[in-house]
Amino acid sequence: MTDRLAGKRIVITGAAQGIGLAMAEAFAKEGAALLLIDRDGPLLEEQAVRLRDQRAHILSATADITDAAAISSAIGQAAVEIGAFNALVNNAGVNVFSEALSLSDEDWTRCFDINLKGAWNCSRAVLPGMIAAGGGVILNIASTHAFTIIPHTFPYPVAKHALLGMTKALGLEYAAHGVRVNALAPGYVRTQKVIDYWNSFPDPAAAEAETLSLHPGRRIAAPSEIALAALFMISDECPFMTATCLTVDGGLSVLHHP
Ligand SMILES: NC(=O)c1ccc[n+]([C@@H]2O[C@H](COP(=O)([O-])OP(=O)(O)OC[C@H]3O[C@@H](n4cnc5c(N)ncnc54)[C@H](O)[C@@H]3O)[C@@H](O)[C@H]2O)c1
Repeated sequence: MTDRLAGKRIVITGAAQGIGLAMAEAFAKEGAALLLIDRDGPLLEEQAVRLRDQRAHILSATADITDAAAISSAIGQAAVEIGAFNALVNNAGVNVFSEALSLSDEDWTRCFDINLKGAWNCSRAVLPGMIAAGGGVILNIASTHAFTIIPHTFPYPVAKHALLGMTKALGLEYAAHGVRVNALAPGYVRTQKVIDYWNSFPDPAAAEAETLSLHPGRRIAAPSEIALAALFMISDECPFMTATCLTVDGGLSVLHHP
């Protein structure tokens, strides 16, 4: 531990598992105080207790990021306890994959409510405090789907493109207030979401092997590898980085053809 995040009070959404949990672990080790938010209450509490046992400074709130009032209340209550938040990671997201014309209106709405509006709900809850304090940092977990398209995954990449647009818009809007807004674009990361995707094929092992073979390094990322990049972006080590996106995909998105 080197205290790279000493003095940071960070909200992380979707923190009960996967990339969100890996960031919680990495940020806590570097001295940050954290508010972990997830809609899966039991799993969130299990992980929060485990992290507190390691002496991490962890608050937790069960809330759905699509519920703006619940998010505002959770962040407001935690801020009373530990002080206004100076960092937010909008990580919670879901895959909504369809052939475009087969998509239901409900799935369109669910995709944009969680993957885009949810990030705005959380940003809106922290931005006034950051502006009043003269600075802060928001990190949106986008995806390589924010600038490339895999056929039949509509409309998830549309929402991630929009999240990148929101990153740029808010980054410019609040730069003069010292608030940095950036995106991190992972490629494939070994989380339950990706394991479920492989398990949706008749031969999951073959599906996994095919995914690995797409990558120049013949492997996908561990959640902890995404957390290391996020740690840098949320820290004060890149003070002039704003309104931009860092890709962490093992080279996948620059490969012309496997
Ligand atoms: N895993 C990958 O390969 C990959 C690649 C690129 C981008 N991403 C992005 O990274 C982020 C995290 O992905 P992951 O693979 O760790 O996911 P995950 O499914 O492992 O975990 C996501 C967490 O978010 C929570 N969550 C989902 N919707 C929520 C909501 N409405 N309100 C509150 N909590 C909610 C879930 O309960 C879960 O605990 C997502 O935004 C995803 O789009 C993932």
